Amino acid sequence: MNIRSILHEAAPVMPVLTIEESELAVPLAEALVAGGMRAVEVTLRTPVAIAAIANIRQALPELIVGAGTVVTPRLMHEVQKAGGQFAVSPGFSTALGAAAQECGLPFLPGVVTASEIQIAMEHGLENLKFFPAEHAGGVKLLSSYASVFADIRFCPTGGIREDNMAHYLELSNVTCVGGSWIAPRDMIAKQNWNSISKRAAKAMSAVNE
Ligand code: 3PG
Repeated sequence: MNIRSILHEAAPVMPVLTIEESELAVPLAEALVAGGMRAVEVTLRTPVAIAAIANIRQALPELIVGAGTVVTPRLMHEVQKAGGQFAVSPGFSTALGAAAQECGLPFLPGVVTASEIQIAMEHGLENLKFFPAEHAGGVKLLSSYASVFADIRFCPTGGIREDNMAHYLELSNVTCVGGSWIAPRDMIAKQNWNSISKRAAKAMSAVNE
């Protein structure tokens, strides 16, 4: 699968997960699948993240599992070894782009500015994360990119919640949104799987026109 089809599969929402305890990874993923999620991003912000990706992949082969916060080529290789199916980064670098290619991993790097978008385009990337969406200019900035970068599709993340997700999904250049609100850290720690499933189902019922 390429990154565009993964984002289409995830649409309208990709949950961004930060997992503190490896034994919670599979029940968390099960709760998200029960809520209708088809793809998840596990951030490499905790020591157990790589193991969590491997565990989820093994337990739930139907779920597309990617890694987030992939900020170095070394991490890109670790993600591939763990069976991660795509990689997300808050920014872009040539070295990271090359590592993604070497690993054969679909890659979603983050951008904010027009120059960053053009650099990513020069590397053949047409699907980009817009991060941190709300701080960087939100729906207004992203909508202004639609006419100048007509072929570029975005997955905005950062500050997106239930109450503002629809505004992003209305944009013609947004494939899906991402965010941690579906499975916040405290809810994961409390193993509140029922609430997480409900949040997932509610988010998935939003329509991406
Ligand atoms: C990300 O990595 O995409 C962000 O941390 C998600 O941002 P959020 O926590 O504001 O949803």
